[in-house]
Amino acid sequence: MTNLQIFLDIATEAAMAAGTVLQGYLGKVEDAITEKGRPGDLVTVADKASETVILDILHRHFPEHSILAEESGKLGNQDNQFLWAIDPLDGTTNFAHQYPFFAVSIGLLINGIPEVGVIYDPFHDELFRAARDLGATRNRHSIRVSKTSELEKSLLVTGFAYDRRETSDNNYAEFCHLTHLTQGVRRSGSASIDLAHVSCGRLDGYWERGLSPWDMAAGIILLQEAGGKVTAYDGSAFKMETGRILATNGHLHYKLSHELLGVKNGGLHM
Ligand code: IPD
Ligand code: CA
Ligand code: CA
Repeated sequence: MTNLQIFLDIATEAAMAAGTVLQGYLGKVEDAITEKGRPGDLVTVADKASETVILDILHRHFPEHSILAEESGKLGNQDNQFLWAIDPLDGTTNFAHQYPFFAVSIGLLINGIPEVGVIYDPFHDELFRAARDLGATRNRHSIRVSKTSELEKSLLVTGFAYDRRETSDNNYAEFCHLTHLTQGVRRSGSASIDLAHVSCGRLDGYWERGLSPWDMAAGIILLQEAGGKVTAYDGSAFKMETGRILATNGHLHYKLSHELLGVKNGGLHM
């Protein structure tokens, strides 16, 4: 077994254990929801309990690896070439409202590149897994991106970061513009599920700004292994630290990039 397969299997164990924890808390966190800072940026007892389970499993198997976890921050020696980017509950707002779009997202970056990813949606019992050159699966069956190549025939998805009230770079203009050019733009409230759904062809493309590595790491390798494309908005090489991602089936990548840049350059026509 390659190392990547071992990392994938342990990440799967952690994601599924955490998903079971989340399911146990669903509908029971009303008295345990707090805001982390910005309005709407919630954290619940479930986020923390899920993260504890993941960290326990990863520490037990890979004590020397670095961790970047949403609720605990940086743990271990961050110079280690192995960095686990963990979102114990991606879609906390949905979870708090019992809106069933949330997931556990665990990605492994090796020398800064996402190489292994597991996204587990416990409500629908959907397990998305991928590792570099080992393919992408949903519930152990291979997945591929869609073949849609025209924006007019596409269904897209995006999201709006918690700083949306503080900046005009809040993705509202892009959302309106693309809504007019496509069959629709969805907003699921879980970045990892967005990336998973593009990966298995339910959606054709996704873009968002203001993201963190734990939102994207697992979904990036999943999408790449499913045949999709991940770049910056302008089509140049993706950079994790920008928090900005354009992720598509590849076929409509540059058309979507062109439209996003048009909005950025003031070309909004509604
Ligand atoms: C959020 C979700 C949402 C995205 C936000 C993220 P959280 O993560 O992924 O879809 O629009 O930018 O922060 O807070 O639910 O883990
Ligand atoms: Ca998240
Ligand atoms: Ca989260």
